[in-house]
Amino acid sequence: MRVGVIGAGSIGSVVAAALRDGAVPGARLTGVSDPAQPDGLPVLPVGELIEASDLVVEAAGHQALAELGPQVLDAGRDLLVVSVGALADEELHERLRAAGPGVPHLSTGAIGGLDLLRAAARMGLHHVELVTTKRAASLVQPWMSDAEAERLRTADTPVELMRGPARKVTAAFPKSANVAASVALAAGDWDVVETAVVADPCAETTSHVITAEGAAGRYRFEIRNHPSQETPTSSQVVPYAVLSAIGALATPEGAFR
Ligand SMILES: NC(=O)c1ccc[n+]([C@@H]2O[C@H](COP(=O)([O-])OP(=O)(O)OC[C@H]3O[C@@H](n4cnc5c(N)ncnc54)[C@H](O)[C@@H]3O)[C@@H](O)[C@H]2O)c1
Repeated sequence: MRVGVIGAGSIGSVVAAALRDGAVPGARLTGVSDPAQPDGLPVLPVGELIEASDLVVEAAGHQALAELGPQVLDAGRDLLVVSVGALADEELHERLRAAGPGVPHLSTGAIGGLDLLRAAARMGLHHVELVTTKRAASLVQPWMSDAEAERLRTADTPVELMRGPARKVTAAFPKSANVAASVALAAGDWDVVETAVVADPCAETTSHVITAEGAAGRYRFEIRNHPSQETPTSSQVVPYAVLSAIGALATPEGAFR
């Protein structure tokens, strides 16, 4: 499978280098497309990258997904979406759904348990809660007043910054949007997912605690990721989730890898 990567930042550069080095059997790198022109990776203009690839990985951000995602699918190329939070925008979600003949796939990104949530959602979920806890300093947002931002930077105990429906919280904390969107899409309902963001000045890991209750049973998933060194709002595991998804798409017949 020929794989092109749009966006070679903290996630895309790790994915592209691993593909270049043959780390995923059945998949090879065609190139990367990124205006930052990363060193050590074959750079292609986006049109050529799409043309040369069977699968295009989007790891470039919400705006890039909106601009390029439909083009990839309309060209008959499959698309692996990393900026899942962008799908909180219903209009974009619909445009991607309507595009084709390429097929969109979603990276599981920073979390797991989505397969069980999807299964339980088929029987009906009454309530889903996601509590994301990050280092306080990485949660400062442009809409915060100087006083609020300073209080966050200097807090010495954990503070719940916001709690509410997933769409509202993702709009206020876009860097936390990906996980909330992944949970909402697995639950098949944005309104059923109550999302909270907690700032913890002492957090050594980024944690996501997902609890769900419905006709199928009660579930609790607790994920504690080491933050990315380059991008503390992201987690180190994310590029490896992308590589794992590429591996499953490249050799779908191999269940035991
Ligand atoms: N699904 C998840 O759980 C999850 C987890 C973490 C991050 N993410 C998302 O993944 C995306 C990438 O994250 P990152 O940490 O690698 O970001 P990053 O800022 O390190 O890298 C993004 C790269 O994309 C490039 N870029 C921007 N616009 C582009 C365009 N139109 N065409 C080509 N390249 C373009 C930038 O130059 C940059 O190098 C973000 O949207 C982030 O929110 C998802």
